[in-house]
Amino acid sequence: MPIILDGKKLAKKIREELKKEVDEFTSKGLRNPTLAVILVGNDPASEVYVKNKRKACDEVGIKSLYIHLVEDTPEEELLRIINKLNNDEDVDAILVQLPLPKHINTQKVISSISPEKDVDGFHPENVGKLATGMKDVIVPCTPLGIWILLKEYNIDTFKKDVVVVGASNIVGKPMSLLFLRNEEAPVSVCHRNTKDLKHYTQNADILIVAVGKPNLITSDMVKNGVVVVDVGINRLEDGRLVGDVDFENVKEKAFAITPVPGGVGPMTVASLLVNTVSIYRQKFGYPKHPLTEV
Ligand code: GUN
Repeated sequence: MPIILDGKKLAKKIREELKKEVDEFTSKGLRNPTLAVILVGNDPASEVYVKNKRKACDEVGIKSLYIHLVEDTPEEELLRIINKLNNDEDVDAILVQLPLPKHINTQKVISSISPEKDVDGFHPENVGKLATGMKDVIVPCTPLGIWILLKEYNIDTFKKDVVVVGASNIVGKPMSLLFLRNEEAPVSVCHRNTKDLKHYTQNADILIVAVGKPNLITSDMVKNGVVVVDVGINRLEDGRLVGDVDFENVKEKAFAITPVPGGVGPMTVASLLVNTVSIYRQKFGYPKHPLTEV
């Protein structure tokens, strides 16, 4: 049996530790950490994600300011709201849930968030810092969560052949950059234009899949002893929630594997809390949160 990388369990432990930490700060007279969450429109999946994020904030004592805007909100209105939050001393961190409606320029919106409050690490300044290996960076929540999960289970990443499937700005690209830092490990990034996906995946020591296609990775595509991280969250017609990896068959060959649900998803939310508390700590003169030292 492979090691099951239990993100649900680790995320719970992280939330408990953060709660204690936040309680210590507030008992010293500091205000609670504060995260502003902006959702534009009524995409059902985004509404669920935002609800989960706010519930997790509540649990650890992070105040979440919820700004829910109608679908046809003009871009200028969104930029005006972000500008106000940038200048609000009582707001530590800002999250704009993606995807945004088509009439809004996503990159323009992300770039308008103050880089110090960019809890997702999507601002070009943070992306550039990650790419150049600078320390004072905010690492995007999903790659950070995956990194923390691998380290918790003592998965060795040094010199391993890493394959990342999916090249999104949210997961694939920042995940690759994390492994490239300090020349930790060589990384192959695959995407929809990769001609022969199996050619890459079958050589992976560590395989990270973030595409959104059920059963994209089958057991013939991996080697024995692989470490598999499945970022996919797909709802099947019968209501089941599955990842991008054929878990039942791939697990027979894996050294370690994340389940779906209960793997990466809870770690993404936990990392959002870690990043928020880390920004808050630095604002009040404390060092960044140790869990962000990746
Ligand atoms: N949409 C899907 N994943 C994410 C995420 O990590 N952050 C934001 N802001 N939007 C998302």
